[in-house]
Amino acid sequence: METALVNEYRRLSRDPATSQPLAYLRLRRAIRNVVEHRDIEPGQALPSERDLSRLLQLSRVTVRKAISGLVEEGLLNQRHGAGTFVAERIIKPMSRLTSFTEDLRARGLNPRSEFSERVIGEVTPEESMALNLSPGVLVARLHRVRYAKEEPLAIERSVVPASILPDPTIVQDSLYQVLEALGARPRRALQRLRAVSLGAQQARLLHVPAGSAGLNIERRSFLDDGRVVEFTTSWYRGDIYDFVAELQTD
Ligand code: GLP
Repeated sequence: METALVNEYRRLSRDPATSQPLAYLRLRRAIRNVVEHRDIEPGQALPSERDLSRLLQLSRVTVRKAISGLVEEGLLNQRHGAGTFVAERIIKPMSRLTSFTEDLRARGLNPRSEFSERVIGEVTPEESMALNLSPGVLVARLHRVRYAKEEPLAIERSVVPASILPDPTIVQDSLYQVLEALGARPRRALQRLRAVSLGAQQARLLHVPAGSAGLNIERRSFLDDGRVVEFTTSWYRGDIYDFVAELQTD
């Protein structure tokens, strides 16, 4: 893992496309990349500040600055006297259009879904507005609870035009994988997040007390030709899911 981090840092220093003149930002990105690629697993310790500064030939101040930013972001946490560890919360970068399955696999977790609905029906007025479809058109509806192993993380309700997904029962785990195979992988999405307290039924499905904090997310995803491919409403557990956005000045 030490080697992976050193190699990634060197790669970023060489690569003109990702070149970041400030060493602490370069190191921050290198750490983020090795965590995302699972070269270092959640719960594992990072090399000490002293080792990192020696291996990368950076000052301790630079290393500390890189790490403190990631601690604030929630990607790393520090235990007094014990060191710096990769956080075990699930951190979802906001700027990338990825699927639940991809996000969990990137963290070494095993995603699965339990469906309560996979049917074709006529579009409702709300869905027709969201998907830009005329009344009477058919849609595929998927309703499921999403798990990491035995732990429920989110409830999701997805609606996809039946012209794109004529048979929703072919979705076993990943909707995006099926859409990709059908040549309809979303290319762009608009997403809205709202803080909510989970209702009794949602809380029961997510194994948390009623009224617990949750995140309600609506995603409308588009194909290259502008067609809306999905309208998904999700309720994520607030106690284990972090959404992180990277902001840049340029
Ligand atoms: C996330 C998004 C959903 C999307 C889903 C696809 O959870 N919030 O809008 O439908 O990913 O995930 P998968 O391909 O694992 O079914």
